[in-house]
Amino acid sequence: MTYSYKKLFEPYKIGNVEIENRFTVSPMMISRCFDPNGAPNQEGINYHVERARGGFGLIITGAFFPDIEADPFGADVY
Ligand SMILES: Cc1cc2nc3c(=O)[nH]c(=O)nc-3n(C[C@H](O)[C@H](O)[C@H](O)COP(=O)(O)O)c2cc1C
Repeated sequence: MTYSYKKLFEPYKIGNVEIENRFTVSPMMISRCFDPNGAPNQEGINYHVERARGGFGLIITGAFFPDIEADPFGADVY
């Protein structure tokens, strides 16, 4: 790794929470990662666990639809 990327490995804080590096997963979710009720299914869980184990400091989850009665959008996507 060249010196110019050193900053990516430095910790920072969001409020009181220390994030151990600056590598971030942007929100990406596809319909096969949640069940018909909008909750993450096993594939969706695996997707996030693999990235956490890979060392990303911050993972922003993609769209989940935990309450499809309040927000029926997810049902259309599925
Ligand atoms: C397959 C896929 C799924 C995505 N799902 C979401 C999502 O669930 N929620 C969201 O806010 N953005 C979602 N995005 C948008 C990405 O987070 C967005 O493209 C990224 O932040 C843009 O980064 P860039 O400006 O570096 O290209 C998705 C993008 C892709 C390619």
